[in-house]
Amino acid sequence: MAEKSFKYVIVGGGVAAGYAAREFTKQGVKPGDLAVISKEAVAPYERPALSKAYLFPEGTARLPGFHVCVGSGGERLLPEWYAEKGISLILSTEIVKADLASKTLISAAGETFKYQVLVIATGSTVLRLSDFGVQGADSKNIFYLREIDDADKLVEVIKAKKNGKAVIVGGGYIGLELSAALRINNIDVSMVYPEPWCMPRLFTADIAAFYEGYYANKGVKIIKGTVAVGFDTNANGEVKEVKLKDGRVLEADIVVVGVGARPLTTLFKGQVEEEKGGIKTDGFMKTSVPDVYAVGDVVTFPLKLYNDIRRVEHVDHARKSAEQAVKAIFAGEQGKSIAEYDYLPYFYSRSFDLSWQFYGDNVGDTVLFGDNNPTSPNPKFGSYWIKDGKVVGAFLEGGNPEENKAIAKVARIQPPVESLDQLTKEGLTFACKI
Ligand code: FDA
Ligand code: NAD
Repeated sequence: MAEKSFKYVIVGGGVAAGYAAREFTKQGVKPGDLAVISKEAVAPYERPALSKAYLFPEGTARLPGFHVCVGSGGERLLPEWYAEKGISLILSTEIVKADLASKTLISAAGETFKYQVLVIATGSTVLRLSDFGVQGADSKNIFYLREIDDADKLVEVIKAKKNGKAVIVGGGYIGLELSAALRINNIDVSMVYPEPWCMPRLFTADIAAFYEGYYANKGVKIIKGTVAVGFDTNANGEVKEVKLKDGRVLEADIVVVGVGARPLTTLFKGQVEEEKGGIKTDGFMKTSVPDVYAVGDVVTFPLKLYNDIRRVEHVDHARKSAEQAVKAIFAGEQGKSIAEYDYLPYFYSRSFDLSWQFYGDNVGDTVLFGDNNPTSPNPKFGSYWIKDGKVVGAFLEGGNPEENKAIAKVARIQPPVESLDQLTKEGLTFACKI
C-alpha cells in the first residue's frame, strides 16, 4: 500500500489536534506539510458539547456547529478549512502501530505514514465496567460517552425509551452532566456512586451537598456508597435491572457509565518516557524522544506554578498545550526560544441552570462562602482552598464573567490571607478586590 509522507503529523483528531492545526497555520505551515490523522469520522470538534447541548431536547447542538475553535470564541474550522490551508485531514483512520525510531505510523487499513515531527494527541478512552469483570456489563443499552458516535447512540436511545428509566453509574463529570441531560429529556434518573459525595476529586462535602440537593429537587435519585455489581437483561439482551453491591436492585431501560478515563498511550508504550500514567514532557510539550511532542489528556507535564508534574483531563489544557507545542516546534526551527508552559488549572461544568468554574489547586484548608441553599432562586456560592497562608484554589457557582475572572486571578496570584474567618466573611469580595 502507498506510503504517505508529511513534515508534521498530528495523531488524534480531538480538541488538542484542532487547536494545534490552527496554531500551525498561524505559524505559517506550508501547504502539504501537515496531516491530522483521526480515528473519528469528523473534523476536530469541541468535545464538551457531547455531554451537554448535544443531548438537549431543545437548543440542540449538532455539527458543523461546534467544530473547534468555537469553544474558546475562535474561528470555526470546518472540513473545508483544512483543505484551503493545504492540511491533510485523514479521517476514519486509526493508527494501530507507531514506530518512533523509524518515524513511521501504520493504520488499521495498512497505510503507512512517515513524519519528521510527530504531535501525539490521542486523548483518553473510557474505563469500562467489563474491564473490572462486572457481570452483564456488555448487555445492550449500557452506554459510555467519549466520542460523537457514542453521543449519537445516546440520542437514539433517549428517543426509543421515551419516559423510561435510566441508571447513571459514576458520580464524576459524566455522571453529573449526563444525569441532568437525561432528566431534561424527561427520563427517570438514578445516580449510583461509591463515594460519600459526588465529584470527590474536586468538590468538598459542602460543595457537593449543594449539587446533590439541587439534583434531588430536579427529581434525580442519588444512591451513594455503593457500586453496580451486575446487570440483568430481558429476552432481547437489553438491560433491565442494575444490581447494586448493597443488595438493592434498580430498574433500568438505559444505563450510562462514567467511571473515569484512561489516557491513550498504548501505541507508544516502551518507546517514550511515561510518568503518572501519561507521556512525560517538558514545558514545551517535548517528549523524551526527539521530534515527538505530546499534548492534551495524554501528557504529564511540569506544572510550573506548583513545582509539580501533572496530567490534566480538561479542555482548556488541551487547547493551550496544543498551542504551546506548535509554538515550540516553530521556535525550535527558527533557533528562537519561547517561555515554558505556565498553566493555571481551569475546570468547569454546566448542568440544568447551573454553571461553575474552578481555578488553581484544590489542596489545603477550605472555606465556603455565599448562598449555597439548593432551593434558592439564584444560588451563588464558592469556596477557597488555602495552603501555607495563601489562597491556592477558588471555586464559584453562578458567577458572572468578571467574577470568574476575579477567582482566576486569585488562583494565579495566590494572595496571603490573615484568617479563614475573614475570608469566609469577605467571600467573593476578597477575589473581586485583588
Ligand atoms: P480528545 O479525546 O479530544 O481527542 C483524541 C482524539 O484522538 C480522538 O479524536 C480520538 O478518536 C483520536 N485517537 C485516539 N487514538 C487514536 C489512534 N490510535 N489513531 C487515530 N486517532 C486516534 N473538559 C472541560 O474542561 N470541560 C467540559 O465541560 C468537558 N466536557 C467533556 C464532555 C465529554 C463527554 C468528554 C468525553 C470530555 C469532556 N471534557 C471536558 C474533557 C475534554 O473534552 C478533554 O480533556 C479534551 O477533549 C482532551 O483533548 P485531547 O485532544 O487530548 O483528546
Ligand atoms: P471522573 O473521574 O470525573 O469520575 C469518575 C467517577 O466514577 C468517580 O467520581 C466515582 O464516583 C465513579 N466510580 C469509580 N468507580 C466506580 C464504580 N465501580 N461504580 C460506580 N462509580 C464508580 O470520570 P468521568 O466522569 O467518567 O469522566 C471521564 C473523562 O471525561 C474525564 O477525563 C473527565 O475529565 C472528562 N469530562 C470532563 C467534563 C468537564 O470537565 N466538565 C465533563 C465530562 C467529562
